[in-house]
Amino acid sequence: MCGIIGYCGPKVAAPILIEGLKRLEYRGYDSAGISVLGPDGRHRIVKKKGKILDLRKAVPAELPGGTGIGHTRWATHGEVSDRNAHPHTDAAASVSIVHNGIIENYSALKQRLQGKGYIFVSETDSEVIAHLLSDLYDGDLERSVKHAVSLLKGTYGMLAMHVNEPGVIVGARNGSPLVVGVGDGEMLIASDVTALVEHTKQVLYIEDGEVVRMTADGHRTTDLRDKPIDRELQVIGWQIEEIEKNGYDHYMQKEIFEQPESILRAIQGRLEPENATAHLGGLNMTSRELLDIERVKIIAAGTSYHAGLVAAYALESLARVPAGSELASELRYRNPIVERNNVYFAVSQSGETADTLYAMRELQRKGARVLGICNVVGSTIPRESDGGVYIHSGPEIAVASTKAFTSQLSALYLFTLLLARMRHMSYEAGLRFMHDLERIPDLVQEVLTRTEHVQELAKKYAQAKNFLFLGRGINYPVALEGALKLKEISYIHAEGYSAAEIKHGPIALINEETPSLFIVPNDGLRDKVISNMKEVKARNGKVIALGVDGDNELADIVDDVMFVPKTHELLYPYLTVVPLQLFAYYTALELGRDVDQPRNLAKSVTVE
Ligand code: G6P
Repeated sequence: MCGIIGYCGPKVAAPILIEGLKRLEYRGYDSAGISVLGPDGRHRIVKKKGKILDLRKAVPAELPGGTGIGHTRWATHGEVSDRNAHPHTDAAASVSIVHNGIIENYSALKQRLQGKGYIFVSETDSEVIAHLLSDLYDGDLERSVKHAVSLLKGTYGMLAMHVNEPGVIVGARNGSPLVVGVGDGEMLIASDVTALVEHTKQVLYIEDGEVVRMTADGHRTTDLRDKPIDRELQVIGWQIEEIEKNGYDHYMQKEIFEQPESILRAIQGRLEPENATAHLGGLNMTSRELLDIERVKIIAAGTSYHAGLVAAYALESLARVPAGSELASELRYRNPIVERNNVYFAVSQSGETADTLYAMRELQRKGARVLGICNVVGSTIPRESDGGVYIHSGPEIAVASTKAFTSQLSALYLFTLLLARMRHMSYEAGLRFMHDLERIPDLVQEVLTRTEHVQELAKKYAQAKNFLFLGRGINYPVALEGALKLKEISYIHAEGYSAAEIKHGPIALINEETPSLFIVPNDGLRDKVISNMKEVKARNGKVIALGVDGDNELADIVDDVMFVPKTHELLYPYLTVVPLQLFAYYTALELGRDVDQPRNLAKSVTVE
């Protein structure tokens, strides 16, 4: 949610900032801007409504200066406009700041500053930081930033520069991520490592309540009481190629097609064939503690929440442990009951989603053990969790999540196998499940070879105004995910429902113009789902079925049919979700949508 970047070094800052913002654009893309401290000792600010491309066009070819900050915005306070874009400055243009987060007490601070004669030009909460800093500046930017942030309530990852201190950037963090990149004679700082990986692999994560002062030669991190923080540098594992499109038209397409490999990466090295179980070292739990688990609760948002819903079915069915998935945003504010032997998973691709992070903190306050299932190494959730599993999907850049979903499933299925083998699952049953799991990457590959057919169907149905996605059992959350994918990127109104539930309401929407996509694997619920499909057909609804190879009866009942290969009953979500991701992708393409950066959304939502 908003991306920020800063650069100090011998190179011209502007192109580095813009390139970095391009990498961070998935965090927000309604407007963007940069501020460069020029050799003339003045801030040159260029900011623009629109994408980074629009900003790039607006930046003059000659914009000298080796120190600068940049921002890509996802609007919270104030409309999308040039004026509300960051960086913000004071009337004398002595400071410039970029901010990611929300300043909750900005109104009170604004009034106070206006009383002192400061003139505000934007509708943002962030502008207050610029005037506050200008007001408090005492000749030392680092000290002034500490003073200013001590007056702020809310969340921030912010960067500031002052004309009196050329070559210096000061950053502060509370609730919004900030990571320093240590280069050779140059320093960078950004909301996440994707903006840094091109320049350096050595990074330092800044924690809440810390302030970092950087110049081209080095950095110093302290807390608000000036206590020095001495933290080891970490090395980023990602390669630059991983954040390029590599010949694909869109990141989303690339990420869908990467799934055989990303699922494999999530599973690899974590299976123990000799014991027919899984090994997850990062959980930090003894066998006795695992055995004592009485309930598993998964908290998450968006697509990650759907992965949690799928996993809850598997956990209950295979490990026979009560399990559920809940929206983190809801859990946090309902005073959750934490019992001694409950284990929570915070599932988040980015590891930064505010709803999930705050819910995790609330649970930890109540004494709960919260494990993270995350993709971005070093992000806040894994750092604050009591243990967990990295899914190693590689960078996921398209706003609509795809490969993270199937890798989250992998981590949760491994945990399921581990728990199941400690409880009721026999060695043979464990081995069978393990082998079925190991075959999934190849089966997903097989599903991907059928893309062309999905593309044809997407073309056929792209003009629909409404869509229903229906499934049952473990495929019910896949229906939710299919609907989410379609609405996110094609803007077609789509609802995911249990196929059983449509007769209690959604069937009223059925007519010739509202297609329904039924997920109908060959499991114990198949015949029930077929009855539901027939109910829709009887009302002139168009029906697409997503069935399993060999289920030829489906073709006689529905208008169109897609198939996936056969697998273990509880592993179908891996296979059924892929055609739905492709369906959304090709529908969005057909409608000319911005697939990777759909309107109003952001990949990493760091505000509540
Ligand atoms: C945003 C993204 C979704 C994502 C959700 C949760 O809304 O647009 O694609 O599923 O956040 O993100 P997380 O990083 O916590 O998995």
